[in-house]
Amino acid sequence: MDRLRCLLVVSVLCMAAVAVSGVRKLECSEHRDQECEISNFTIVESMDLSEYEFPDHPHLSFGTYPHSDDSTYVVTITKELADILQATEKLEIQNVSLQTMVLWNNLRILDASHNSFYELVVEPGQNYQLRELNLSYNRFQSIDFVLALPSLRTIDLRHNYLESLDMSLFSMATELWKINLANNRIQSIATDGTMYLPRLSNLLLNDNLLSVLDASEWHFNMLQELNLARNRLRYLSMCEVNHSFPHLQTVYLDENRWDCAHLNATIRQLHALSIKPMRHYDQDDEERCGRNVEGICCY
Ligand SMILES: *[C@@H]1O[C@H](CO)[C@@H](O)[C@H](O)[C@H]1NC(C)=O
Ligand SMILES: *[C@@H]1O[C@H](CO)[C@@H](O)[C@H](O)[C@H]1NC(C)=O
Ligand SMILES: *[C@@H]1O[C@H](CO)[C@@H](O)[C@H](O)[C@H]1NC(C)=O
Ligand SMILES: *[C@@H]1O[C@H](CO)[C@@H](O)[C@H](O)[C@H]1NC(C)=O
Ligand SMILES: *[C@@H]1O[C@H](CO)[C@@H](O)[C@H](O)[C@H]1NC(C)=O
Repeated sequence: MDRLRCLLVVSVLCMAAVAVSGVRKLECSEHRDQECEISNFTIVESMDLSEYEFPDHPHLSFGTYPHSDDSTYVVTITKELADILQATEKLEIQNVSLQTMVLWNNLRILDASHNSFYELVVEPGQNYQLRELNLSYNRFQSIDFVLALPSLRTIDLRHNYLESLDMSLFSMATELWKINLANNRIQSIATDGTMYLPRLSNLLLNDNLLSVLDASEWHFNMLQELNLARNRLRYLSMCEVNHSFPHLQTVYLDENRWDCAHLNATIRQLHALSIKPMRHYDQDDEERCGRNVEGICCY
């Protein structure tokens, strides 16, 4: 009985505390034009979200990137918060220690760069409108969520933890024009059957660990720029380049492990197809490696 009374007293005290502190209304700061920037709040797992009232604005920005004031932490966007934010079409949520997030249908632009983000949760049967996705400088090891995003136009996955990739994940995203996968740890790229990306114009794979590029199943008819700098490639199939990327204009090749005889032949064939072989990095290759073809090291 005493224990029960004690519990009652504690709960009454708790309710009183909530009533006193009340709901904190987050206000848009004045200094940004089209965006509603809110800062100085903390959201962690299993938190009571009724503590905050979020502004009703289509373009929200959490935190004050790039000049972080260190006052804003949004570790997770749960289903509950996603429902609260469902009218938001653009969200910037940079450098606030984000780890996981549930996506909502109306979100079209998401910039979640510079976090510890590793899981974007999508649910089956939804109609996601996401077009621009910036996940650079995070911790993604897999990106299966891409299958649920048919409206994607650009995806930036630079500086993540990808080790392998199934290119077929992108096959529904027929509007994609730029894929940036640079600065990961990608060793292999698989493709499950023939795939078409009719609008893809830029594919950046530089600064990975690729020793083979198998493009035989790719039909990227509008690809103009392919960046392969800083990998471990020895050989590039010109037959694949010609058939998979018929409109290629520029290919970055520097800092790989090219076989000199192959590179010599490859570069001649590239010129024949009017594709420019280029260097992405500005190092003086000739001094560094001894042998080179048009400034691109070979061994
Ligand atoms: C941040 O919010 C707290 C209340 O949660 C308030 O006391 C403090 O003054 C705010 N700081 C700034 C810089 O707005
Ligand atoms: C992120 O914010 C912290 C302060 O909270 C700052 O020290 C750091 O430089 C910021 N990082 C980036 C990449 O802006
Ligand atoms: C993604 O964010 C990074 C860092 O904030 C920025 O440098 C980059 O330009 C953005 N990417 C795109 C495609 O806007
Ligand atoms: C490239 O492919 C076209 C047909 O798709 C063919 O006519 C041409 O000879 C090929 N060129 C080279 C250099 O393989
Ligand atoms: C490339 O081939 C040309 C002749 O076709 C030759 O003169 C040159 O030395 C070769 N370069 C390398 C790096 O093998």
